[in-house]
Amino acid sequence: MNKKTVRDIDVKGKKVLVRCDFNVPQDENGNITDNRRIVSSLDTINYLLDNDAKVILCSHLGRPKGEVKPEFSLGPVAKELSRLLNKEVKLADDVVGKSAIELTSNMNIGDVVLLENVRFEPGEEKNDEDLSKKFASLAEIYVNDAFGSAHRAHSSTAGVANYLPAVSGFLMEKEINFLGSTLENPERPFVAILGGKKVSDKIGVINSLLDKVDTLMIGGAMAYTFFKSMGYNVGNSICELDKLDLAKEAMDKAERNGVKLLLPVDTRLGKEFDPNTETKTVKCDEIPDGWEGFDIGDETIDIYLKELDNAKTVIWNGPVGLFEFDKFAVGTNAVAKKLAEISATTIIGGGDSAAAIEKAGLSDKMTHVSTGGGASLEFLEGKKLPGVECLENK
Ligand code: 3PG
Repeated sequence: MNKKTVRDIDVKGKKVLVRCDFNVPQDENGNITDNRRIVSSLDTINYLLDNDAKVILCSHLGRPKGEVKPEFSLGPVAKELSRLLNKEVKLADDVVGKSAIELTSNMNIGDVVLLENVRFEPGEEKNDEDLSKKFASLAEIYVNDAFGSAHRAHSSTAGVANYLPAVSGFLMEKEINFLGSTLENPERPFVAILGGKKVSDKIGVINSLLDKVDTLMIGGAMAYTFFKSMGYNVGNSICELDKLDLAKEAMDKAERNGVKLLLPVDTRLGKEFDPNTETKTVKCDEIPDGWEGFDIGDETIDIYLKELDNAKTVIWNGPVGLFEFDKFAVGTNAVAKKLAEISATTIIGGGDSAAAIEKAGLSDKMTHVSTGGGASLEFLEGKKLPGVECLENK
């Protein structure tokens, strides 16, 4: 990565504003159900503490849309951070108001303050200049470690960098290195597995990966748009009728580039969108009316796993089936298990694929599990991320 990091700047005795992505899932009682994003931010925070900085953290949580909504408070995050850091994390009552100013004005070396949800401020998502300046006035250095939000040009992810020395944190650096450099110069064979609902969501990344990979395997509901474009009946399966041309173009591009494009040969169907629905597996060109495709079938699993046996680099973005329902998690779990076994560099795009790997209990067995959903997708598409672009070059 050609951006400066916290290693390149003297933080001793300085107030450092760190933008993290603490947008973590919670249950109905506000308990954090997956703390990976918080754990992933610890390297940078501990480095700053070890180097005698005063640490001011900020993040968004959910989409409160510029209003103070208690259910989006970072209170549970402050608690979890305190537990993980084994020290007090003071939570401000506001973002850049009286409480934030008071807490950040009276800091000692080694103190940690967390500002309230940055999206409580109406200017945040508008990248409002005034708000950016207010963020900057709280600190002397800005660190962006929020890879998961790096595709957003907001005040706390980009605007503030106009008014302070701005560098990257370790998580941001790691994400960019894995999703960038590793995939630019992959050890081959280089295999991509792409799943997810819609071709339209993934077409950017499909096109970008078709310039890089040796094999591209398609799964998830978007496979049915490919089938439709091939003239197959897809029953009640999710299908983007207005995107059949995109699917066709992707198949043409794969052929032109000599990329092996694998589509499922069989599919697990359900009668209804229900975890206990009746199921059956059929060939992909034999999907009957009244049934909906929710997973890849056993024959496809065999073919995909065999392909993965020889892979040296694998990128996986998007589950290959409806993994939230056990009956349709067969394909996704088989792929996850295989990735845990092979001796390849395995990189998992964030969002649903990261959740699937976590659910399978195999996150530790992957080379890298991204903390970014939309951000990793945009980065893989080759788009510039505002949260990275705004940082100082090396
Ligand atoms: C995410 O969960 O993908 C990030 O935290 C970004 O959230 P957003 O889509 O609400 O900007």
